[in-house]
Amino acid sequence: MDKKQAQERIKKLREVINYHRYLYHVQDKQEISDAALDSLKKELFNLEQAHPDLITPDSPTQRVGGVPLKEFKKLVHKTRMLSLNDAFSADDMRDWLERISKLLTLQEKDQLDFYCELKIDGLALELEYQNGMLKTASTRGDGSVGEDITQNIKTVQSVPLTINTKEKELVVRGEVFISKKEFNAINALQKEKGLALYANPRNVAAGSIRQLDPKITASRNLDSFAYDVINDVSCDTHEQKHARLKELGFKINPHNAYCANLEAVLRFHQRWIKEREKLPYEIDGVVVIINNNALFEKLGVVGKTPRGAIAFKFPQNQTTTKVQDIRVQVGRTGAITPVAILEPVALTGITISRATLHNEDEIKRLGLKIGDSVIVGRAGDVIPDVIKVLVELRTGKEKPFTMPRVCPSCRTKLEKSETEALLRCPNIKCPARQRRSFYHFVSKKALDIDGLGPKIIDRLLDEGLVQDPADIFELKEGDLAALDRFAEKSAENLVKAIAQKKQIPLAKFIYALGIRNIGEETAVDLARHFGSLEKLQQATLEDFDALSDIGPIVAESVHAWFLDKNNKELLDKFDNAGLKIQNPQKSAKGKLSGKTFIFTGTLDSIDRNLAKEKVRDLGGQTTESISKNIDFVVAGNEPGSKLNKAQTLGLNIIGEKEFLKLIQ
Ligand code: IVH
Repeated sequence: MDKKQAQERIKKLREVINYHRYLYHVQDKQEISDAALDSLKKELFNLEQAHPDLITPDSPTQRVGGVPLKEFKKLVHKTRMLSLNDAFSADDMRDWLERISKLLTLQEKDQLDFYCELKIDGLALELEYQNGMLKTASTRGDGSVGEDITQNIKTVQSVPLTINTKEKELVVRGEVFISKKEFNAINALQKEKGLALYANPRNVAAGSIRQLDPKITASRNLDSFAYDVINDVSCDTHEQKHARLKELGFKINPHNAYCANLEAVLRFHQRWIKEREKLPYEIDGVVVIINNNALFEKLGVVGKTPRGAIAFKFPQNQTTTKVQDIRVQVGRTGAITPVAILEPVALTGITISRATLHNEDEIKRLGLKIGDSVIVGRAGDVIPDVIKVLVELRTGKEKPFTMPRVCPSCRTKLEKSETEALLRCPNIKCPARQRRSFYHFVSKKALDIDGLGPKIIDRLLDEGLVQDPADIFELKEGDLAALDRFAEKSAENLVKAIAQKKQIPLAKFIYALGIRNIGEETAVDLARHFGSLEKLQQATLEDFDALSDIGPIVAESVHAWFLDKNNKELLDKFDNAGLKIQNPQKSAKGKLSGKTFIFTGTLDSIDRNLAKEKVRDLGGQTTESISKNIDFVVAGNEPGSKLNKAQTLGLNIIGEKEFLKLIQ
């Protein structure tokens, strides 16, 4: 980006950020997530770092908070309440250290150590004590002037009203917050009354503390942690400040820790990514502070932020980036999916460069053009998608996208689906479709052949060594040797791995065929019901329609698949290649018979597919779509949106331990 472009981008970023900050801080409203706003702020920060002469005093990076609400009395902070810059990765942390190291002597640099605090998702708070008595409490406001919330703060039990100090005046800062439990209870009440739900605990904490009636505040059971004492000169380190606060009777966070170097800081951060779920309150990162107070002071302040501290955020499930291009992908069933090619960006800890756009209607709904700045997100382990276009950041150079009319792979005219918002390539022999079917056939949930992923399949196809999935069972080590850089040992291993999968349960085989609309669960139903491949091949449309778990669309697509001449040939080829399909045993009534399970999140001690198999072995059923008919929702780590839906439906939710007991 040249200077002029940077200047333009900076200008637009400032406008957008200011707009959302105003909504957030003044109106207590939110149009985009905290994560998306953080991501924009970070982009602005980075651009300003690269072009320091473009920093202006009114940039959002240079100011704090919002404007105080009219209804509250204003209180001037004697020392400005600062804010923190964000870091999102270990690299950002190293950059920070490098930036500040330049301002220190070699000796000071060697002595650098840190104090790490959990960053509570709440509201900053200032408490002023005179002769040991709480005199005023205020919010941050714009950093210089906040709102007088003294009456409300007195309802927060963890804030001491008197402290034992000789100091005439003492200013303490901290965070006021609400527990996850309170947050859920308040939202449950909102729902009962048919009112809008709060987006996060911080919104509730902010809303509760800015009540003109302290009785309402009292009913919210707010809590607090103190993290700084301003004018106590007796402490040399930040760690000592916390000890002093504790001595004075403030609630301090017991998990905060001294870290001797950056490695220890990174470990602390990693640890809390894993353990944050167990805390009774939300945290969104770790505040890292230079432990030595004299060095912290020496490093000074730039704009609104001290150089000596940084907020090391947790991986976010939303971020912002640019759409460099939109391409279409041909799936194994011929479905044409537009995909956004993104400027690479970190999301939930890994770099992403693509996001699905689902279909043409979705592009229209988003109003997306090539070159747009967008918010991308992902829930759980799902592929990332584009959530919103930041229209305000357009330069005028964005280009509209139109869906192609012919298949990008085989040039066949695309057909519009009558039932879905989809375009399809109808050509069964389309190379792109065949390639995708191949990937699917060997994928984890299908044949699961060790060492045979998309890359090797691409090479096998490109060299003409295989044409369809049946061919892989005929591969010999010598054939693989023809592939460039394919070592003898790996050829031997691959041939062995393929041979091992020559015996395959019917359900897995049906799923592996990649028939449109046939997922894992339906494949299991079909295998159970028909019992053998021959019976499936002979089944009429009425036979499929008669199955209770199968709708007319699914019935139509399986039936059509088995009728197709090419598919019949493929099945013969599997047979000739020596594939042995194992028919399911008529299941004796197991202890889970009649029970339906759904899984969300990852399990620690058992693979999710294996867990599903266990359920089925015991006579139970598994499903992928949430409904009232589910008996058990098994929630693992980082559960997805299914968990929320299950809660709304009031389903029976169990953890991994309970599940293991059930299948014992
Ligand atoms: S230290 C210069 N420690 O995070 C500010 N802040 O931008 C020094 N926060 O609004 C803050 N938990 O209110 C510190 N343990 C903690 C914190 C914490 C939450 C908030 C703080 C401020 C924001 C930083």
